[in-house]
Amino acid sequence: MSAILVAREDPIAVVLLNRPEALNALNDELMTELVEVLEALDDGEEIRCIVLGGSERAFAAGADIGQMAEASAMDMYEARRIDRWDVIRRLRTPLVAAVSGFCLGGGNELAMACDLIVASETARFGQPETGLGIIPGAGGTQRLTRAVGKAKAMDVILTGRFLDAWEAERAGLVARVVARESWLEEAKSVARAVAEKGPVAQRLAKESVNRAYESTLESGLDYERKALYLAFASEDAREGLKAFTEKRKPEFRGR
Ligand code: CAA
Repeated sequence: MSAILVAREDPIAVVLLNRPEALNALNDELMTELVEVLEALDDGEEIRCIVLGGSERAFAAGADIGQMAEASAMDMYEARRIDRWDVIRRLRTPLVAAVSGFCLGGGNELAMACDLIVASETARFGQPETGLGIIPGAGGTQRLTRAVGKAKAMDVILTGRFLDAWEAERAGLVARVVARESWLEEAKSVARAVAEKGPVAQRLAKESVNRAYESTLESGLDYERKALYLAFASEDAREGLKAFTEKRKPEFRGR
């Protein structure tokens, strides 16, 4: 049985983690397959937004603890396990994390690697790694701190406390909290809204927002301005602006 389920509903795709017996713990096989699937979807022009989800009980309960217990530091280093996560960071297609239930450790790091998080009211977010004698190693100390600030990040990481969906939303980790029975549908509807807009513009906007975390305000503003000029050069911009003046719906082609 595949650890990743993919359903294409063009222009969106729904990718679900599928290791229910281990609450979707992220083992090597699952991560390899996930990265391959995401890269393939990102390569095509048809998919304009990807929903990444788990099951109702768990988005993912972290990296696979059994697999980590067997690995030495040199195994981790040589296998470049965490390096694979950089592929997710570089995807151009917007990604919506659909989180229901446990979203812990590497699971939370995976959700944070997406562009926005839609959370069921059942969602529980945490970074319990220090309880295992290790630390978050796939972005947890960095992305969580940027999302929720030092005070809350320290609280979550040092005490192992879980945030419920509402607290995570108030803290800035989660974009929207949705009803437990419609968590996936709601995430899909967010993805469809994203997919409707100009695809070139969406990619440039995503890059520019991410730039805000990686640069000074001045260089971020410069980056944004160049991205706007690039968006202007696209056929999509001509179409979007013309469609508005002609009072019709734009037909974007992603170029
Ligand atoms: N790795 C491997 N297996 C896991 C797992 C994980 N991260 N989390 C859960 N499972 C397995 C359990 O071992 C159990 O399997 P068995 O039925 O074969 O015993 C199954 O999933 C169901 O789990 P529980 O019986 O424990 O379910 P529960 O409802 O009682 O508890 C839970 C749920 C609180 C999430 C608990 O499973 C738990 O604490 N899991 C570990 C969470 C964790 O520490 N995550 C961080 C991992 S380290 C990391 O992610 C490193 C990094 O930054 C890259």
